[in-house]
Amino acid sequence: MCGIVAYVGARDAVGIIISGLHRLEYRGYDSAGIALCQEANGPLLVVKTPGKVLDLEKSLRDALLPYAGKKFTLGIGHTRWATHGEPNRENSHPHPSRNGNFAVVHNGIIENYGELKKRLIARGYSFASQTDTEVIAHLIEECYEGDFRGAVAAALEQLEGTYGIAVISRLHPDTIIAARQGSPIAIGIRDDETIIASDVSAIVTHTKQVIYLGDGDIVTATRENVDIASLKNVPVSHEMTHIDWDISQIEKGGYEHFMLKEIHEQPDSLANTLRGRLVPSEGSTRLGGMRMDLPDMAGLSRVAIAACGTSYYAGVVGKYLFEDFAGIPADVQQAAEYRDRNPIILPDSCMVAVSQSGETADTLAAVVEAKRKGIPVLGICNVVGSTIARETGRGVYLHAGPEIGVASTKAFTSQVAVLAMMAIAFGRARRLSVAEGRSMVDEMARIPDLARRVLEQEDAIRKLAHKYAGAHNFFYIGRGYMFPAAMEGALKLKEISYIHAEGYHAAELKHGPLALLEESVPVVAAVPDVPGKIKTLGNMQECKARKSPVIAIATENDSSVTAHCTDVIRIPACPEFLAAIPVVIAEQLFAYHIAKARGCPIDQPRNLAKSVTVE
Ligand code: F6R
Repeated sequence: MCGIVAYVGARDAVGIIISGLHRLEYRGYDSAGIALCQEANGPLLVVKTPGKVLDLEKSLRDALLPYAGKKFTLGIGHTRWATHGEPNRENSHPHPSRNGNFAVVHNGIIENYGELKKRLIARGYSFASQTDTEVIAHLIEECYEGDFRGAVAAALEQLEGTYGIAVISRLHPDTIIAARQGSPIAIGIRDDETIIASDVSAIVTHTKQVIYLGDGDIVTATRENVDIASLKNVPVSHEMTHIDWDISQIEKGGYEHFMLKEIHEQPDSLANTLRGRLVPSEGSTRLGGMRMDLPDMAGLSRVAIAACGTSYYAGVVGKYLFEDFAGIPADVQQAAEYRDRNPIILPDSCMVAVSQSGETADTLAAVVEAKRKGIPVLGICNVVGSTIARETGRGVYLHAGPEIGVASTKAFTSQVAVLAMMAIAFGRARRLSVAEGRSMVDEMARIPDLARRVLEQEDAIRKLAHKYAGAHNFFYIGRGYMFPAAMEGALKLKEISYIHAEGYHAAELKHGPLALLEESVPVVAAVPDVPGKIKTLGNMQECKARKSPVIAIATENDSSVTAHCTDVIRIPACPEFLAAIPVVIAEQLFAYHIAKARGCPIDQPRNLAKSVTVE
């Protein structure tokens, strides 16, 4: 959940590591640190601070004064999202070993650190932090007998849990050792230098040639060489991946926040998701990565969808799509249920794991469990080469481009688009006629335009957001496909504006929550002109009768809603199976402008991180 950058090469390590950490701040931003090495046997310079990378830069300015005119050519940096110990200087990474010979940065969680710590204390080590990471530094020191890689491997063999780590040593000022077990590590390769990071966004400005470490791999990196092996020192080879994300795609592109940029990218991100996958002539879709032929799809008895958060709500839309169009019973579970319970996994079923980052620990655990039970597992991921994408080995990439804002936006709409394409493919293998398939495919081709037309409503949505920005509680309601859209709208609002918001099935209000409605509690009703609308209009009337202001998200030119609401946000007409896309884009803009009016740190909401790699 944190960010790691490491550099070895001819250039100044400080600038490269700091700019990389800025790019990774979305992964964790409660403290930051750097360790640098200049020459053999000189001390490691370790600078750490609570707060953001900017605070680290300030501390570094003073710390570097004695080194004016000298260059550090090796270093590791870290931006942290606390798991063990509060975000203070002591708990910030890098963590030096007792003798100061080694420094470690780490993402993940060491489950047996308590036990290891006790053993190390019994052998005379003392601890400066409450972190699990510090045990790794001391274990490396203890295992070191002149072989740097061997010492790190021997230390890692004692760990249980997850890690992505990078280690430097003042005794080996030309080498970084990095390793992964459950937490991503990518290696950027360039002439005369190597840049290692937990996410390629810290690498792409320097090189687009990247190797992803696999679980259990350890790499010995110098400026000229990258040797990857297993912990037992059996050589491992991985193909080089060419990153085609451009850095301008990663930076804010003139928008005030990544979230706003990503909301506005949706016409393009959706076009990329659909590109080459709609086959109107066959009334179907082409999703080669699923590696399922027609008999496989026809023989499925059930689809189990596993996901978390926003991806879970996309999964709920997916359930409806699979059932309505492919006639396959589908269940959707919060992925953590696969850890906490023992959900039934039927033979002839398949799992669809939905995850933007492809690194979410709970979703990964569900994937591993389903694989153990022997069913095919398809991934719907955005990040190419991510752990879930690799673990599933089959599925469909979103191709939505990097999503940096902590609140997921463009990933949701692309997930719905991919799930709809899957449902069409399954449906055509089962019960959809070519004409039905063709009409769905034609509708899908309009999705980017639907997104564009919602974005044209931004001024009107901003005005409404300002009107309601002072509220303390919101309800979001919808039924059918609009139920997950309501839940996603409430999630967007609460996470970035800190306003309490609940997503509810419109029919459920009268079973309890109606007691909370009053003048100060606005209700957002997802009520486009699709089946179920009339009933939701009735529910809106119930809200108005309790004096709640009602904001309808309704189809343009649909005058039937106006008598039932206080305000209205208009979206273009579209079929029910796609309506979650324009509705949620309108909700994203509404949440964004409310959060902005309230002065919230939109891209980095408190207590949240982009990639949730802990249970
Ligand atoms: C909300 C949000 C989270 C993620 C969830 C799953 O805006 O971003 O709820 O959707 O943490 O993340 P992924 O999709 O990366 O598995």
